[in-house]
Amino acid sequence: MTETRPKPYYKEPSCLDELVQTLTTIFDSERINVDEVRSVMTNYKSNENDWARFSKFDPHRYTRNLVDEGNGKFNLIVLCWGEGQGSGIHSHSDAHCFMKVLEGELQETMYAWPSESEPDKEMQESQKNMYNRDEVAYICDADGLHRVENISHVNQAVSLHLYSPPFDMCECFDQRTGKKQKVKVTFWSKYGQRTHGQGACRTPSEQAENN
Ligand code: SIN
Repeated sequence: MTETRPKPYYKEPSCLDELVQTLTTIFDSERINVDEVRSVMTNYKSNENDWARFSKFDPHRYTRNLVDEGNGKFNLIVLCWGEGQGSGIHSHSDAHCFMKVLEGELQETMYAWPSESEPDKEMQESQKNMYNRDEVAYICDADGLHRVENISHVNQAVSLHLYSPPFDMCECFDQRTGKKQKVKVTFWSKYGQRTHGQGACRTPSEQAENN
C-alpha cells in the first residue's frame, strides 16, 4: 500500500516577512510542489508597506531588487517596471520561476524554443497572458520562453519573483532570428541598498547597444 503524506497546511501569510518564512520552510524540502508554492504566494495579499523599501525605479529599464536568498535555495526579488518597460525574451536556467503581481498589471508573452533545424526563423508567440494584482504566474524551461511587459502608459507595476534554484545567467533571444545570447543578470539593489548592478534580461535593442 502506498503511504500518502498528509498535505502540509500553510496559513495565509499576513505580511511579506511571513511569506519569506513559509517559502523558506517549503524550499527546505528536496521536492517542490509547484501548486503549493503558487497557492502560498497567491495567499499573501500585496501590501505596499511590506515591499516599499525594495521598490526602486529606473527611467531606462526595469529593476531587479533582491529581497531574500532563501538559505541558498531560491532568490526572492522585487521587480519594478516603469510605464512601457519590459524584459527581452528569455529562458530560466533550469529554474522554477514564480511571478506575483504586487501592483499594476503585467503582460506575459510566451514563445516556443527556436528550432535548431530552422535557424534565423522569426520566433512565434504561443500565448499572451495578463496578470493583475495578487495573481501568480509560473514558468520553467519545459514550458517555453517568455517576456514580461508593463504595457500601461500611465501606471507603474511591481512584481515579486521567486527563482529556484537561484541563477545569475540566462539566455536572451532575438525575436526576429531566434538567436540567443548569454546574459548576466544582476541586482539594482540588495536588501533595500543600491548596488552597482543594472542587469536585466535584455531586449533585442539593448543587446544591439551592448555589442
Ligand atoms: C521576467 O520574467 O521577465 C523577469 C526577468 C528577470 O528576472 O529579470
